[in-house]
Amino acid sequence: MRAPQRTVLLVDDETRTLETLGAVLERHGFSVSLAHSSRDAIELMERRNFDAIVSDVLFEGAADGLEVLRAARELQPTSVVVLMTGHPLLEGAVAAIKRGAFDYLQKPVDPLVLAAQLHRAIRERTWDHENLGFDELVEILSGMVANTIERIDPYTAGHGERTRRYCNLLAERIGIDLHTRERLQLAAIAHDYGKIYLDDLSFLTKKGQLTAAEYLQVQRHPLLGAEKLGNHSRLREVCQWVAEHHERWDGTGYPYRRRGEQISLPGRVLCVVEVFDSLATKRSYKDAWGLQKVLDFFETQRELAFDPDVLDAFLELLHQHGERWIAQPQADRERGGELRSVAV
Ligand SMILES: [Fe+2]
Repeated sequence: MRAPQRTVLLVDDETRTLETLGAVLERHGFSVSLAHSSRDAIELMERRNFDAIVSDVLFEGAADGLEVLRAARELQPTSVVVLMTGHPLLEGAVAAIKRGAFDYLQKPVDPLVLAAQLHRAIRERTWDHENLGFDELVEILSGMVANTIERIDPYTAGHGERTRRYCNLLAERIGIDLHTRERLQLAAIAHDYGKIYLDDLSFLTKKGQLTAAEYLQVQRHPLLGAEKLGNHSRLREVCQWVAEHHERWDGTGYPYRRRGEQISLPGRVLCVVEVFDSLATKRSYKDAWGLQKVLDFFETQRELAFDPDVLDAFLELLHQHGERWIAQPQADRERGGELRSVAV
């Protein structure tokens, strides 16, 4: 059976942009409708549904693209919305994503990139209804994290992917079955996704320590992440583990202040691994730690932060892989920089 042709509404006051993007999207299998103003776009949205809506933000100086986004969320809540602008500010991109846009692209937009992104976004939108395999779920969640939280704080680039790989090895070592390990990997990728929904994202890249009030705000992210991912029925347990990733063995964590085995075993695995990779990573407020410093810290946290059995299994893994894993965040960041410079 052939897949239905996907429909896209392109909105821009520049005819040349509309025609160029429209022609490429048509060649990539989309059925494209064009609108030269936000008013035209909204009229079209009132008459028919689109799989995706791609809109410029500024129309002769007015931010009408946000009006298109608002109307799209109201009239067509399942459509994918991508905004384009010649003057991207990070705050604008984040605000758009929080208001329901899938992404925010800088003009001139590469039509091939846009076509690929729309195909992926439309597939993500339908993931709840389709029988997606594990690899596809990994790809979708990785894309969500890379497009949001890792873009805001480049220091965290690759953190989700590394946490996923190490969690899988640790879980395998302590005898967790394959099915649970797969779901744990999804939780590992997305564990910090809720940060994108914090009210003030400047905390995430703040130099120096957070104030007590800021720290309280940041502590909302495990539950925010679980709530936002929770729209997908296949991720129920994944959401539970995301919510638990800052719980601590001695009951001093958050948000539930669970202790010991009240915290799920996958949650305890995620906790140890996530702390390791965070310590190994340079952040805006601290340098990367060396391996010995991490090992010393882990010893002080036995039975405080961490389940001692899970910690022991992880220390065995570090004995084998520690030198490489401690250097991996820096290597990933340099690799990311190289890839970005090639793309530019
Ligand atoms: Fe976190």
